[in-house]
Amino acid sequence: MPRPTPFSTDHTAFASTARAGFASQEARVEGEIPPWLRGDLVRTAPALFAEGRWAAAHWFDAIGMLYRFHVASPTSVTWSQRLLECDAARAAQRGEMPMSSFATPNTRGALDRALHPVPARSDNTNVNVLKLGPDWVAMTETETQYVIDPASLSTRGRVRYDDALGGDLAMIAHPHLDVARRRVVNVGTRLGASAELVVFEHAPDERRRVEVGRWKTGEFPYVHAFALTPSKTVLIDHPLRARPASLLWSNRGYIEHFEWQGRTPTRLVVIDRRGGPTRVLETDPMFVFHTVHAFDDGDALVMDVIAYPDASVIDALRIDRLRDANITAQASLVRLRLDLATGAVRREVLLADGFEFPAVSYGQVNGQRHRRVWGARLVRDADGLRSTLVRLDLERGDLATFTDGDVVYGEPVFVARPGATAEDDGVILAVGSSPSQGRAHLAVLRADDLTRVATAHVDVPLPLGFHGSFARA
Ligand SMILES: [Fe+2]
Repeated sequence: MPRPTPFSTDHTAFASTARAGFASQEARVEGEIPPWLRGDLVRTAPALFAEGRWAAAHWFDAIGMLYRFHVASPTSVTWSQRLLECDAARAAQRGEMPMSSFATPNTRGALDRALHPVPARSDNTNVNVLKLGPDWVAMTETETQYVIDPASLSTRGRVRYDDALGGDLAMIAHPHLDVARRRVVNVGTRLGASAELVVFEHAPDERRRVEVGRWKTGEFPYVHAFALTPSKTVLIDHPLRARPASLLWSNRGYIEHFEWQGRTPTRLVVIDRRGGPTRVLETDPMFVFHTVHAFDDGDALVMDVIAYPDASVIDALRIDRLRDANITAQASLVRLRLDLATGAVRREVLLADGFEFPAVSYGQVNGQRHRRVWGARLVRDADGLRSTLVRLDLERGDLATFTDGDVVYGEPVFVARPGATAEDDGVILAVGSSPSQGRAHLAVLRADDLTRVATAHVDVPLPLGFHGSFARA
């Protein structure tokens, strides 16, 4: 059987030097970083696309790389990176992948599959890195979360939850924080004869999850993110669904079991955080990776999402199409207003020419109406993948943008100035890499108008990745 052609990452937005292991260097700082911005930006990105006989079939399956920009002073930034230490990386280096991945077939033989109908799920925690209490935690969409040492970027071990929810709950990589109540809120999926989506919460420094509510369903959606308000969580049952039984005995990737049911509505499952009844509202079909923000508004709940007309974006991110992918071509910023008295859902397009990796001033607008949204618009043109950082003012409707030659920026991270009261009083941190120059940098931009404040250059490329966060020193 012909092997898939390994994805060559040379001179693309996905290039990296991750294979070499740990690396570190002093960044060259241009401009002056605000003196209050001291701390660590830790991020993750798919970086190792093929190794020996193994090759990822999808962007989401490349082995993750962790990297960190340590801001010590306005002129001193140290960068470091390390290929994620995990079982999936070690298996890939042996040329095999016995674990279930997102879209890459696992290499289990027929006997193994017969004896163990449910494969172990990948521990390639390449989606997000968040500080939960004292720990930096790397996450993906399985039961595995790894504690990361921020200095060495080594894996310290799995996060161990001491509770009744069990070790087989596949947790998503976009937990929310209820700032006022100091609670981490997240969602897990458990598969059996039917599927259960379980909403749970815990204090940031505790590892005992308390169930908030659960929703049982025959066919279950692919869940990447959810919405949180002070009173509710909203699960998005968009029509990309699978039957739990179809995953048994299979060596196909997880997402291959999901089917686009475009003639059926999107269901919005509203779970009351104080134990009230669960409501299921309906709207037109759409596909959502990322929610932007949500808030309560009287009898209504308002949630903004990055919506696609269907789930074809997932196929566009397969390795054989990734070089040509127009990542946000079909994305739009959509506001859903859920009237909980009547059950009606009103849908309004806030920005048709959309973006991905949405960010808000999370600490300031937590639980409240937001006015500003940041993101990265990733579009392919004749010269390759281009990216524009954007800031949208939802009241005035005006859009500020930032580009820098052929630099491809990923997710913007907002950091508030200490003592800030305005929603955009702070900076945006964005990591970008220039395919033509093979070098990357951390850009520090004013959050209000996206003008550049400072740049920390490194002389290696960093691959376009997913998510990460900043923690103050
Ligand atoms: Fe995400």
